[in-house]
Amino acid sequence: MKILENKVVLITGTAGGLGRVAALTFAREGAKVVGSDINVEANNETVELVRSAGGEMTGIAPIDLTDHEQARKLVEEAALAYGGLDVVYNNAAIQKFGPMPDFSIEDWRRTIAGELDIPFFVSKYAWPHLVKRGGGVILNVASISGMIAGDIPPMVGHAAAKGGVIAMTRQLALEGARHGIRAVAISPGPFLTPASDRDLGDNQEARDAVTKKTLLKRFGQPEELVELAVFLASERAAYITGVNYAVDGGATAW
Ligand SMILES: NC(=O)c1ccc[n+]([C@@H]2O[C@H](COP(=O)([O-])OP(=O)(O)OC[C@H]3O[C@@H](n4cnc5c(N)ncnc54)[C@H](O)[C@@H]3O)[C@@H](O)[C@H]2O)c1
Repeated sequence: MKILENKVVLITGTAGGLGRVAALTFAREGAKVVGSDINVEANNETVELVRSAGGEMTGIAPIDLTDHEQARKLVEEAALAYGGLDVVYNNAAIQKFGPMPDFSIEDWRRTIAGELDIPFFVSKYAWPHLVKRGGGVILNVASISGMIAGDIPPMVGHAAAKGGVIAMTRQLALEGARHGIRAVAISPGPFLTPASDRDLGDNQEARDAVTKKTLLKRFGQPEELVELAVFLASERAAYITGVNYAVDGGATAW
C-alpha cells in the first residue's frame, strides 16, 4: 500500500516550484491532493501533470491566501472536494528582500503577510476539519533563514517571518497533540525554483556564494525536499511533532 493512500492533502502554492513537485509526489504516494494558488493557469498545468501521471488532484484557484476570507473559502472547498482533510502542507509564500535600514515598511508588511499570515490562516481554518477526522498533520515550509542569518540577499523580513513559522509550528504541535494533530516544520536551504531563480537573477557571484555555504556545494532539487514531507505526513512519522527539519545540504551545520 502507498504511504498516503486515501489521505486528503491540501497543498498551497501548487502552481510551480516546490509546491508543484509536492503535488506530484504526494499524489504518487496515493494522496488525494487539493492544490491551490493565486496563479490559475500554472495551477491548472499542475493538475494536468498530476492526472496524467495517474494521480488524483483538484485545483482551486485563484485564491489570494493573504486574505483570510479567501483562505477560509479555500479550506471549506478543499474539505468538500474529497469529504474531509488529513494533511495541510503550508507551502505558499511570497516575500520581499532588502537591506537594513532601507527595507520599507510596506515590504516588511507584505513579507509578514506573505510568509506568516498565510500558514496561520490556512492552519486556523483547517484545524476543526483535522479535529473532526480525529487528528492530522500540519506541515509548514519555513526556511533556514528562520534558523541562521543570511546576507544573500539581505532578508530581515524573510528571516523574521520564517523564524515565526518555526515558532508557530511548535505551538501548533503543543495545542494540537490533544487532538491527534502533529505539526512539523521543514526548512529548505537553497533550492532552485522559479522564485529563487528570479531573486538571484543573473548574479553568478551570488549564486556561487549561496551554494558555497552548503556542504554539498549545490542547490537542492525539489524532490529532495518533498520526499521528506511525504514521509512526515504519513503514519510512519507518527512520533514526530513540534520539530523543525533543515533540508539544506549542510548549510546550517557550520
Ligand atoms: N526555493 C528556495 O530556495 C526556498 C528556500 C527556503 C524556503 N523556501 C520556501 O519554500 C516555499 C516554496 O517556495 P518556492 O521556491 O517553490 O516559491 P515559488 O514562488 O516558486 O512558489 C510559491 C507559490 O506560492 C504562490 N503564492 C504566492 N503568493 C500567494 C498568495 N498570496 N496566495 C496564494 N498563492 C500564493 C505562488 O504563486 C507560487 O506558485 C515557500 O514557503 C518558500 O519561502 C524556498
